[in-house]
Amino acid sequence: MATFSEWNWNSAYTRNHEVSASAARSARLSRLRRARHIFDRLDWWDWDEWIASDLWSFDDGNAALLLTPLDLAEADALDATCAGVAWLRWCAVADGLSPATHLTNVFGEAEARLAAHGVCEVWCIVHPFEWIKPYLRDLGYRVVERLLTFQVEPRRISKTMPPLTGLQVRLARTADLEALCALDVRAFDEPWRYAPVLMQRAVARAFATTVAVYGGALVGYACAVLHGEKGHVVRLAVQPELRRRGIGAGLLCDVVMRLAQAGARSVSLNTQAGNRVAQRLYRRLGFAPVGEKLPVMRKVLTREAPGGIA
Ligand SMILES: CC(C)(COP(=O)(O)OP(=O)(O)OC[C@H]1O[C@@H](n2cnc3c(N)ncnc32)[C@H](O)[C@@H]1OP(=O)(O)O)[C@@H](O)C(=O)NCCC(=O)NCCS
Repeated sequence: MATFSEWNWNSAYTRNHEVSASAARSARLSRLRRARHIFDRLDWWDWDEWIASDLWSFDDGNAALLLTPLDLAEADALDATCAGVAWLRWCAVADGLSPATHLTNVFGEAEARLAAHGVCEVWCIVHPFEWIKPYLRDLGYRVVERLLTFQVEPRRISKTMPPLTGLQVRLARTADLEALCALDVRAFDEPWRYAPVLMQRAVARAFATTVAVYGGALVGYACAVLHGEKGHVVRLAVQPELRRRGIGAGLLCDVVMRLAQAGARSVSLNTQAGNRVAQRLYRRLGFAPVGEKLPVMRKVLTREAPGGIA
């Protein structure tokens, strides 16, 4: 066992080491943040919140990459994950370098680390002409689906038939978080699911998260953000057994009206090209498709077995 003085010395060494490692990481990230080649999908987070995270991968000061498992936030260690899926959230390559080699290094390191912790897939949403798209293809990422964007001017939204008698739509409260997560698990497959860390962020940071309550239970929810005069509905879900009763339309109209009252002149939302049910609902309410389809890319990770590839 270490003597008191040895322990003291070791812990001071560890502390100093951690402080200098985090200062080095922060300096590298601050430099790369000014690079021309940046990919940013931090969604509910501010960039600064991730600086201290252990989830970063670096190729010295040449490239940085943040792949985050679905269930982890900025302060979590990779050991804590139970998720099978991670999202590509942030990536940058220093100016004056050819991205290919540095991306290969940084993705290779990050993907191996994730695979060793049981993550089997990495997903990302990439704009069609974004700089990183061809590199992702070379790294083994493939387009597996596309997202459509729909938009409406709030004053043009069609009034719908009244939803279920006894249905109440109200703003979400902290006490609703558990029920919201339980509903989300039933409504969405894993890559699209909001784990508790994400749901908590969404409720805290969205312009509005509203819930539909029926018979005392939470049976649906919508979540929207507002940037200037543009509103965006980020989430919409209804409990499977209570679909086709007007709850989805009721939630959507309610949140669009809230956005309009706060100054939104247009409201958009995205859905998968294959989600015909949601698209019919949006069109019926007056939403129309706009813009490019957004490719969603995925890579299936292979776990390296000792002495070879599994
Ligand atoms: C998309 C979703 C939110 C729709 O919720 P919903 O409560 O079923 O929506 P509504 O009941 O308002 O409308 C659905 C259909 O039921 C019909 N309907 C509504 N009330 C009805 C009633 N009383 N009797 C018969 N049909 C009815 C609507 O006309 C609509 O028909 P349409 O598909 O022909 O347009 C729901 O299917 C869901 O949670 N899906 C999984 C998550 C998802 O895909 N979210 C959106 C994309 S991100």
